[in-house]
Amino acid sequence: MYRIAVIPGDGTGPEQVREGLKVLAAIAKKFNFAYETVEFDYGGERFLKTGEVLPPDAVDELKTFDAIYLGAIGHPDVKPGILEKGILLTLRFALDQYVNLRPVKLFPGVECPLKGKGPEDIDFVVVRENTEGLYTGSGGFLKKGTPDEVAIQTSINTRKGVERCIRFAFEYCRKRNKAKKVTLCGKTNVLTYAFNLWERVFHEVGQEYPDIERDYAHVDAICMWMVKNPEWFDVIVTDNMFGDIITDLGAMIQGGMGIAAGGNINPEGVSMFEPIGGSAPKYTGKNVINPLAAVMSMAMLLEHLGENAASQAVEEAVKLACANNLKSMAAGRMGYSTSEVGDLIVGYLGG
Ligand code: IPM
Ligand code: MN
Repeated sequence: MYRIAVIPGDGTGPEQVREGLKVLAAIAKKFNFAYETVEFDYGGERFLKTGEVLPPDAVDELKTFDAIYLGAIGHPDVKPGILEKGILLTLRFALDQYVNLRPVKLFPGVECPLKGKGPEDIDFVVVRENTEGLYTGSGGFLKKGTPDEVAIQTSINTRKGVERCIRFAFEYCRKRNKAKKVTLCGKTNVLTYAFNLWERVFHEVGQEYPDIERDYAHVDAICMWMVKNPEWFDVIVTDNMFGDIITDLGAMIQGGMGIAAGGNINPEGVSMFEPIGGSAPKYTGKNVINPLAAVMSMAMLLEHLGENAASQAVEEAVKLACANNLKSMAAGRMGYSTSEVGDLIVGYLGG
């Protein structure tokens, strides 16, 4: 019996999560496993009502689940940063979800903005460090509000944090068993402390994986190659900030935020799965948002639980819907409503 915590969150998050849970119900029946869900109301509405981002026992309670399924965090009436830091980043950090795993995979039938590139060219995974770098909130102001103001934001890179992320990337690459290549995405020519550490650890750990090719590219060049030659990539490993940026680019070349999914992974703890896109408040309640990113997050969650066949079946169903039905991945232009897309997937699962 799996226990899954559900945080629908803000904006279109709840609509997306609803379809993901619809798919979960169908797949559980088909593959004969039992689960229960417990819903948590964390998000903008709760904050506006109570003044609290997360209750004090939230993290301890979430730790008791097998996985967390998240919609989206971000509310137009809440100042940017409060919910992102107070909920999303707090959970990633407190649950020590040290890898943000973001597959970039173009499915047949999905429109790609890159001329001449198809599904055979776009199939790689970004392993983004998820608990360190520029995201720790380390820094401060000097002489704030004066003409001499100084703002400092420090990138924290620990040996332990870098090593466990890089090791995850090599392990994942081996398990994935495709091109068997890990590319370190850095900036060794300028960030000569942080990425010197990354580079040393990359080669040190990489030596334990003689079956896997080691490759390096600066982050700016990665942006270029992701557009020009995405087929070069198998697994990309990088720090938190670079990973954030290149996975938005990755989402675009796989068809957009409507389909891009990710997992915040703690291999020894509780992991959290979410669409890469935000809460898209302008589409809230209109039944037009594309739920496939949430459905693909559910596929990742299932794989994480060890339900590999179920995960694979969901992915196949999404592929069929992309190839046969959806006109576009964009909100309002799919040719189907949000709930109809969920029904399509359930239909392809034989439900
Ligand atoms: C993401 C988002 C978050 C991040 C924001 C909302 C804090 O952009 O999941 O990529 O920067 O990690
Ligand atoms: Mn982002």
